[in-house]
Amino acid sequence: MEIVIVESSTDIGPLVATMVVGLLERRPGAVLGLAGGDSPVPVYESLIAAHRRGEVSFADASAVTLDEYVGLPPGHPRSYRQVIIDDFVSHVDLPVASLHTPDVHAADLDAACAEFEAHIVRLGGVDLQLLGIGANGHIGFNEPGSSLASRTRIATLHPRTRADNARFFASADEVPYHVVTQGVGTVLDARHAVLIASGGHKREAVAAMVEGPVTAFVPASALQLHPHATVVIDAASAADLRLSEYYRFAHEHRPHRRQY
Ligand code: GLP
Repeated sequence: MEIVIVESSTDIGPLVATMVVGLLERRPGAVLGLAGGDSPVPVYESLIAAHRRGEVSFADASAVTLDEYVGLPPGHPRSYRQVIIDDFVSHVDLPVASLHTPDVHAADLDAACAEFEAHIVRLGGVDLQLLGIGANGHIGFNEPGSSLASRTRIATLHPRTRADNARFFASADEVPYHVVTQGVGTVLDARHAVLIASGGHKREAVAAMVEGPVTAFVPASALQLHPHATVVIDAASAADLRLSEYYRFAHEHRPHRRQY
């Protein structure tokens, strides 16, 4: 796990965008794992700006999504598929047909989840998965207690997550109870996992993920087992880390020209 503490949350988007741009330079047909929520938005904004400057093309890339609500009508403005199209895909040259999401409207959701997993395998696996972290340590919609070996499946949201996400809906009652999420095991299969967090409200979750035990109680702690995980956080999110000075020092002295 590489911990990168940036001084301001405004530094996160450009830094993570360089990781995506670098990947696409090396591998134009890369598979990106895109996430909803607020955390990846600055990354999308930086990537859109880089695309407009002619610095990156997504034409040959594909993307999969991390998680999705169940029960919203197709095209609902708050479905993660739609948010990712509106916030990112529609502004770059990634064909919408290359954005792959689980069919949360299928009659047989278990089969739809299995098909999504199979599709990721057919794509050759995810090269770079963007992640946020929930205040209770969830990744994707893998709430505390999720098996660290879990695969894409239907899950029930924790009431706190429903409350946290109510800001995206007209009222708290509109937040679905059920979701489909890549499992923790699915996330761990990505070749590079990049988790972003900013703000003091994430400090406890970040400390538990980075410095606590690996436990299903904090699903994000599974990233400690990932061979290539990068955690990009601002100073407020890093406030509870015991080794923050070391992480800063290590980043300052990271091996020359090493790719993220
Ligand atoms: C949400 C999403 C996650 C997201 C996390 C943090 O519930 N399911 O994919 O990463 O919680 O959200 P945000 O980035 O808005 O703080």
